[in-house]
Amino acid sequence: MLDKFIIEFDKGLRTLCAPAASQRPHPDEAIGDAPLSEAEKRHALGLMRVNHCGEVCAQALYQGQALTARDPAAREALREAAFEEVEHLAWTERRIRELGGRVSLLNPVWYTGSLALGVAAGLLGDKWNLGFLEETEHQVEAHLNSHLDKLPEQDAKSRAIVAQMRDDEMRHADMARDLGAARLPLPVRGAMKLTAKIMTGSSYHL
Ligand SMILES: [Fe+2]
Ligand SMILES: [Fe+2]
Repeated sequence: MLDKFIIEFDKGLRTLCAPAASQRPHPDEAIGDAPLSEAEKRHALGLMRVNHCGEVCAQALYQGQALTARDPAAREALREAAFEEVEHLAWTERRIRELGGRVSLLNPVWYTGSLALGVAAGLLGDKWNLGFLEETEHQVEAHLNSHLDKLPEQDAKSRAIVAQMRDDEMRHADMARDLGAARLPLPVRGAMKLTAKIMTGSSYHL
């Protein structure tokens, strides 16, 4: 038990403090920097900070869910998806630096909350655990699509990252559905949307 705790604590510290690495090339690798006004840069930075914070939450959720998932196939799928979320972390992290900013100061708070939520979802059993995952990914997909509307038109680098992340999240949702995810009740879906709204609103500024 203590070993398990130390391993998970170490994962958390790494997510929050160590730079993430990507095995795939960054989606904006081949794209040059376009000139952005100060206001556009600030706006793109805020949006990418929100996306980075979302990926920190994804790490914690998957980590919590994998800890409590019963079916080995579900556990394995969660670990695989978590691996791609690390790449998302790496992409958004680098883009934030290029835009001249820093990651959200609230990341540790959201990480801790998401980890608890992931553990709780896992304890409800695999079909609800996967249902929670599928719903999260659908909401993230919609959120990323909205960012494609909001990001400055000429910021092709941030847009390429967000578009690839959106495609990955859609795949994660399909994977959860194929593994037997249950549809979450409407009030739960609503509560998740509300929580995400608070997260995005706060990490844009902080
Ligand atoms: Fe992601
Ligand atoms: Fe995902």
